[in-house]
Amino acid sequence: MNINANSNFANIKETYLFSEIGARVRKYQEANPSASVIRLGIGDVTLPLNKVVVDAMTEAVAEMGVKETFRGYPPEYGYDFLRQAISDYYTRNGSSVPASDIFVSDGAKSDCGNFPDILGSNEILIPDPVYPVYLDSNTMNGNHINLVTGSADNGFTPSPSDITTGDKPYVIYICSPNNPTGAVYTRDGLKAWVDYALKTGSLIIFDAAYEAFITEDIPHSIFEIEGADQCAVEICSFSKFAGFTGTRCGWTVVPSGLDAGGVKLQKLWARRQATKFNGVNYPVQRGAQAALSVKGIEACMEAIDYYRNNAKMIADLMSKKGIWYTGGTNSPYIWLKCPNGMGGWEFFDMLLNEAQVVGTPGEGFGEAGAGFFRLTSFGSAEATAEAVARLDKLL
Ligand code: MLT
Repeated sequence: MNINANSNFANIKETYLFSEIGARVRKYQEANPSASVIRLGIGDVTLPLNKVVVDAMTEAVAEMGVKETFRGYPPEYGYDFLRQAISDYYTRNGSSVPASDIFVSDGAKSDCGNFPDILGSNEILIPDPVYPVYLDSNTMNGNHINLVTGSADNGFTPSPSDITTGDKPYVIYICSPNNPTGAVYTRDGLKAWVDYALKTGSLIIFDAAYEAFITEDIPHSIFEIEGADQCAVEICSFSKFAGFTGTRCGWTVVPSGLDAGGVKLQKLWARRQATKFNGVNYPVQRGAQAALSVKGIEACMEAIDYYRNNAKMIADLMSKKGIWYTGGTNSPYIWLKCPNGMGGWEFFDMLLNEAQVVGTPGEGFGEAGAGFFRLTSFGSAEATAEAVARLDKLL
């Protein structure tokens, strides 16, 4: 054909991290059909949707089957009932986000990947290691990437003083609780980034997908920090909070005050969504609304406690073995230093071949992740206990 493909794709890895891991595990499983492989790699939930959510969705499906209550296209930015429920959720957690700033979507990953659509060519600042979607989606768009390094020394929560590429206006990505390291920014840590963004005219894209795992007195939202509504958007999700990884629903907050050179970002995001997205289906939005009710939150928290117990089993093993790790307390992820100076992929192969346990090599989250490894607590309690027993023998 005489058309041009997007040449920026030449600058990203050929396969997405979790596709690569899936392919390696499938290959192993084909060669060893009787092996019982335990998957603690991708952070995918295993508990079913709770009854509060299922009842609401069932009722909504029934409404769709009756002429009087049938609904066609959903509103592009989400039904008012869900936007209001999300706004109320922020209020309960101590911040104030008007429903009109909330845009319902099919999940945080899509919004992270799509947000660069409404931004021009900018300097991008991405922590290393971090969720690969930020780097990949900006590379696809041809943006110039700057990395700010997380390490055991800064607790994997790099601050503006760790920037080595100079002070300038950046589009800054922050994920807290962090994927993959499980590290969490304190109020002061987040304030430092908000102050930096206000001083330099930067935009923060804050990924709060794991906020429901927070147990300590630390911010669940960037909007708990004064001034954030002038410099930040926040992306969040029902995936980990309510077990919606397969159901798909999330949201992005784009404050009305965000102004990029005289252009309101909220207006552009609304325009982008209206053109390229047709909304989340009615039963799912009713399920999401139910997840945010008092009873729904209680049920979601039961599931999160279950995963927290899994995290504790893994963390206790690391402590017993004297292996350095972070995460697990305010996060479903345990981020550990591979023993004996092994690389992450080498450790991955060892765990797969000798214990049939799958994790995620730190290298998949950036160069600064080399020699580290991520285990997730989203498996079943039985599978996690079995994985811990196998690792106890192996390590
Ligand atoms: C992960 O394992 O990092 C997550 O499941 C990825 C995601 O949420 O898209």
